[in-house]
Amino acid sequence: MIHIAIDGPAASGKTSLAHALARRFGCLLVETGKMYRAVALGVERGFTLDQIEITADHNGHTMLNGEDVSSLLQTPALDQASSKIATRPEVRERLVTLQQQIAAQRDVVMEGRDIGTVVLPHATVKLFLEASPQERAARRAGERDGAEFSAILTDIIARDLRDSTRAIAPLNPAIDAIIIDTDQKSLVEVICEAIDLVEVRLGGHRSSD
Ligand code: DC
Repeated sequence: MIHIAIDGPAASGKTSLAHALARRFGCLLVETGKMYRAVALGVERGFTLDQIEITADHNGHTMLNGEDVSSLLQTPALDQASSKIATRPEVRERLVTLQQQIAAQRDVVMEGRDIGTVVLPHATVKLFLEASPQERAARRAGERDGAEFSAILTDIIARDLRDSTRAIAPLNPAIDAIIIDTDQKSLVEVICEAIDLVEVRLGGHRSSD
């Protein structure tokens, strides 16, 4: 089974890299941030946590009470609300269980904050992406029409602080994670570097099987 874990702070390029690796290695892509965002969307819609059921369909799309909400989740309000709801132990427990159940059945590329440390501690390869807050804010501003750089930068810094200082599963590279600093690199360079790293790891796994 291939399990590729990708962690890193907000807007560090995890999703783009995860898409590329999932295609290259024939794995299901699981964006765990979307699951936290879907819980936050459920709360925004007036549901209590007990009334919210998050699942993933066979394409890895995120479902909120049976509705595919994948395309509704990338808003500034949900950036912050998901980061806040992700500090709650009962939310993390449920979503980590779901993520582990998905990975138990198939090859996955899973991206988030605690994949290498908590969700898939025995992953085939663990990558941790880094980039400065300024670089990440510039990338996010390019992705979201009309978004203002300084507002995005303020939001990213607030989210970094919350995600990395929370009591449970704070954002941290696993001890055996490979850290990729993406500041001076294009997306293509990062993808090529990651593919090489995964291939080396898979080669090692196969020859020692
Ligand atoms: O990756 P993202 O920006 O879509 O994640 C949204 C929030 O969800 C993030 O600020 C923190 C939380 N999150 C988490 O705590 N653990 C994960 N594995 C993924 C996301």
